[in-house]
Amino acid sequence: MSWIKEGELNLIERISANILKTGPMPKHVAFIMDGNRRFARKKNLERQEGHMQGFNKLAETLRWCKHLNIPEVTVYAFSIENFKRTKEEVDGLMELAKQKFERLLEEREALEKHGVCVRVLGDLNMLPLDLQQIIAKAVVTTRNHNKCFLNVCFAYTSRYEITNAVREMAWGVEQGLIKASDVSEALLSECLYSNNSPNPDLLIRTSGEVRLSDFLLWQTSHSCLVFQSVLWPEYSFWNLCEAIIQYQLNHKSIQKARELHREEQALEQLEADRACIAELTQHQGNGKPADAQKRQEALQRYIASREARVQDFLQALKHKRNSFFSDLCSETALT
Ligand code: FPP
Ligand code: MG
Repeated sequence: MSWIKEGELNLIERISANILKTGPMPKHVAFIMDGNRRFARKKNLERQEGHMQGFNKLAETLRWCKHLNIPEVTVYAFSIENFKRTKEEVDGLMELAKQKFERLLEEREALEKHGVCVRVLGDLNMLPLDLQQIIAKAVVTTRNHNKCFLNVCFAYTSRYEITNAVREMAWGVEQGLIKASDVSEALLSECLYSNNSPNPDLLIRTSGEVRLSDFLLWQTSHSCLVFQSVLWPEYSFWNLCEAIIQYQLNHKSIQKARELHREEQALEQLEADRACIAELTQHQGNGKPADAQKRQEALQRYIASREARVQDFLQALKHKRNSFFSDLCSETALT
């Protein structure tokens, strides 16, 4: 089974999709694809077959998303917690991923035609080297595609991602690229593995579990969360439509909460910049209070210098991450 499933929706699906599309549509949907093993048990299948059918369902879901004009999808494919499963199951999942990313490389022309950019979010160092290398090739091959985006969270948990982002900022301070006072909520977001994506509008978890299980905790504070009882390999176009209707029913309040949060964040940043300026003038001033215009000019200068510093730091971070993938690709060229 390939990643790209060609084919149109049937008539009734097409009509329903067109009706749905008259309302606000999510631009980014995240899935916790849960219930593969229960599905296998229910159908008397091997556990690995449950995961394989889970992958097939992912390919089918991507096709539905394409027809629903949803340009970005993020999936929880392998949690760091999943390493605690039996060796046999972990090895099976690694082998499945290896096969599927190899297949993805064989399908590079179709991915180019559809403009699909595939990203893998997580700590690849935790994976076997051959899988790291194949993943890096897939990421590098598709990194300039920009019509739709598939983010595969692999060796991922949200707490690990946030901790890593904090470490990256500490590295930036250590390197003298940023100041400790530049650390902010917005900067932390930029240091997450997900920095290239807008936050998901809709997060769907299947199998009836009503937990986030350490998935996109930072990114989903203003997302519509939908928990559905269907097991992932049995997920249907109609289940997806139902989740989108939930999003549409909650769209206004979600937008309002996001707008409020944006305003609060801007205000917090301004307060932080003002505090930095106050501290600087206290150290540098001659004791006389500066007039309002001078204070405003100093603030503008400070904001411009902070923004330039942060941009340089983010460039350095991007370079570090791109090099990680490129180095893995050149290692394979040598072997
Ligand atoms: C959760 O079901 C599913 C997983 C841990 C694996 C998900 C992986 C896939 C769908 C394949 C994707 C592969 C690639 C390469 C993207 P579960 O195992 O927790 O089942 P259960 O909840 O019934 O126990
Ligand atoms: Mg599960």
